[in-house]
Amino acid sequence: MTPAGDGPLAAWADVLARMPDPTAGDQVEEFEAELAHRFGAGHAVATSSGTTALHLAMAGLGIGPGDEVLVPAVSVVMSAAPVIHTGARPVFVDCAPDGAGFDLTDLAAKSGSATAAILPVHLWGRCGDPAGLTALADQIGVPVIEDACQAQGTRSGDRHAGTTATGGCFSLKDGKILWSGEGGYLLTDDPVLAADCRALRSHWQAPPPGQAPLSRVGYNYRLAEPLAALARANLARFDDLLARRQLQAHLLMDGFADAPGMHPIPPTPGQTWNGYCGLARLTLDRPREFCRHLADLGVPNSVGTFHLVPTDRRPPFTDADTTPCPRAAGIIDTTLAVVLTDHDNDDRIAGYAQTIIREAHRWPRR
Ligand SMILES: Cc1ncc(COP(=O)(O)O)c(C=O)c1O
Repeated sequence: MTPAGDGPLAAWADVLARMPDPTAGDQVEEFEAELAHRFGAGHAVATSSGTTALHLAMAGLGIGPGDEVLVPAVSVVMSAAPVIHTGARPVFVDCAPDGAGFDLTDLAAKSGSATAAILPVHLWGRCGDPAGLTALADQIGVPVIEDACQAQGTRSGDRHAGTTATGGCFSLKDGKILWSGEGGYLLTDDPVLAADCRALRSHWQAPPPGQAPLSRVGYNYRLAEPLAALARANLARFDDLLARRQLQAHLLMDGFADAPGMHPIPPTPGQTWNGYCGLARLTLDRPREFCRHLADLGVPNSVGTFHLVPTDRRPPFTDADTTPCPRAAGIIDTTLAVVLTDHDNDDRIAGYAQTIIREAHRWPRR
C-alpha cells in the first residue's frame, strides 16, 4: 500500500512502486523542466549533489590542470573541492567589508592569465554584488559559476540567485530549502554548457548532437529517480517552504535582536533574502567560543556546530602562494548563523531565541 495524496511521501512511494525499471523513469526529466520554468533558466541539469553540480559545471566549461578559479575564502570546503577535482587550483579571494560576496578589488588583483572562472559562493543565502561581479568577469573575460547551494529563493532585483551568471549550482541536501535528502542541480542559459554537462553526468552516453556516444570520459553524477520524485514534490510547494524559512529567520532574528552584543544582519540592499539561517554579527568577547557554547546548549550554528573557518585555512587548500584573506576570518568568527530546517516549529525557534538572549547577557562583551 502506498500513501495516498500529494506531497513528498506519496510521490516517493509512487516511484518506488514502479522500480526497478532502469529505462522508464521520467522524474529527473520532469524535475529539470519544472526547475527551469520555476527559476526562469534556459536549462536545468539535475545531479547527485551540489558538489557534483559544481564539478560538472567546471568540467563542462573545460576547466582543468593549469587553470585557476577564483573562490571566496568565506565559503565551505564543498565549494573549493570541485575546483581541485578538475585539476585546477583554487585562488582564494577576500570578502567585501559586510561579508557578502567578493572584495572586487582583491578579486581583480588576484586574477591573471591562468584565471579560467570565478566561483562566487552565496553563503548563508546572501549574495554580494552580482552586477559588479559580472562587469568584472566580462572585463577579465571569464565565466562565472555561482555556488548557490544555500541560496535557493534569494533574489537580486528580479533575478534568482544562481541565474545571474554563466551557471548556478544548487544542493538538495536536507537542510536546504528545496531538498531531496541528497541531490543537486545546475541552472544555465547556455545550451552548449547544458548539453555537455548532461552528457558528462552520465559517461557521455547521451552526447550533444553530432557527437558519438561514449567518445569522452564522463562521470556518474545522476540524480536517483526516487530522489527526483521527492525533489519535484518539494518544488511544487517551494513557495510555502521559502515563505516558512523566511518567517523562521525573521522570528529568530527579531527574537534575539535586543540581546547584548547581537546584531541581526539585514539583507543586502536590493536583494530579497531567502532567510536561509538566523544571522547575527557578534560584538561579544571570544565570539567563536560563544557560538560553540550555543551549539553545546542545542542551538546549531555554522561556527559552533560545523567549525566553519575560511576555506583557505583548511589543510587541503592551504597554499603558500595564496595571498591571505585577512577580512574573511573576522567575518566568520563574528557571525552567528543558526541552522534552520522546515521541522523547526515556532516553539523551537522561540527556545533558540531565549537561549541566545540568556547566554548573551551572561557573556562578556568586547
Ligand atoms: C555553499 C555550499 N556549497 C556546496 C555544497 C555542497 O552540496 P552537497 O552537500 O549537496 O554536495 C553545500 C552543501 O552542503 C553548500 O552549503
